[in-house]
Amino acid sequence: MAVTNIASNNIKKYGFTNFEVDPNIDLFVEIEKLKKEKNAVILAHYYQEPDIQDIADYIGDSLGLSQEAEKTTADIILFAGVHFMAETAKILNPTKKVILPDLNAGCSLSDSAPPDKFKIFKDQHPDHIVITYINCSAGMKALSDIICTSSNARQIVESLPPYQPIIFAPDRNLGAYINKVTGRNMLLWNGACMVHEIFSLEKITKLKIRHPKAKLLAHPECVDEILQIADFIGSTTALLKYSQKDDAQEYIVATESGILHQMQKENTGKTFIPAPPANNCACNDCPYMKLNTLEKVYLCLKHELPEITMDDNLRLKAKLPIDRMLEISRNLGL
Ligand code: 13P
Ligand code: SF4
Repeated sequence: MAVTNIASNNIKKYGFTNFEVDPNIDLFVEIEKLKKEKNAVILAHYYQEPDIQDIADYIGDSLGLSQEAEKTTADIILFAGVHFMAETAKILNPTKKVILPDLNAGCSLSDSAPPDKFKIFKDQHPDHIVITYINCSAGMKALSDIICTSSNARQIVESLPPYQPIIFAPDRNLGAYINKVTGRNMLLWNGACMVHEIFSLEKITKLKIRHPKAKLLAHPECVDEILQIADFIGSTTALLKYSQKDDAQEYIVATESGILHQMQKENTGKTFIPAPPANNCACNDCPYMKLNTLEKVYLCLKHELPEITMDDNLRLKAKLPIDRMLEISRNLGL
């Protein structure tokens, strides 16, 4: 397919559409060929559609993906995830080409913390250290002291002295959960993820009655009333590992539905039920994560577009708190 200058400009802004792919080609074969030809690596989050997970070189949670991005020797990183994840990979790899299949793949949680508004809040609390969840823009990272993910948030908070005042942003649910388990009283920014806030306590309770032996696995981005009835709380990787070690046969899963693909692959014979949202939509599918498709992965790799670019000043400021997180995680063996 020829990409004209005009089309190429649009692609730089937004990405491709599925219709631009010849339906007769074997996308798995073609993507494998392109990966080898271009020395490219595909890093995918667990929330990606099953086909993308199956073609990825590495599938993981936000911490694992950052660690993988830090050590890759590939020339091109295709990030099958959302914008803040690809941006993090670019921050860590300024000389590599980082591409994202659809530039519209944003994040409601990241959008809930505009850097200009957050800066005003931060300036009102000059004695506070800012710990920011990785689900945020480079602008937010540049205003932060340490980044964390759901895998290491507790340990990052606990690495600071108990008397140290802390601002935690942008996820109020993860922040409240960490306050609860650490006994801290961090100031919380009022942000949230639209997918994790939608689960219905009433419907989950009814589901538990119908499946009395099923365990509830919940991501800490869920609201407290869901976390209170969970049997296990953790990042996507932690939930997956728990499902492998635990001996229950049935699980209700309160996080984005993409994780069920790996859970089912790793646990033949066990049943995984997506936790029901409060309304009848497929709201536990993240609309941003699901913008990426196998067709777009193919086109993105073929044309090396859309590409993540960033001003170097911003990149260096945003890199410091990510480096701190990676170093603390390394020291703790995470
Ligand atoms: P983890 O990848 O840390 O489990 O977080 C999930 C998430 O919301 C990513 O957008
Ligand atoms: Fe953002 Fe929530 Fe989607 Fe994760 S699941 S990318 S936090 S909107």
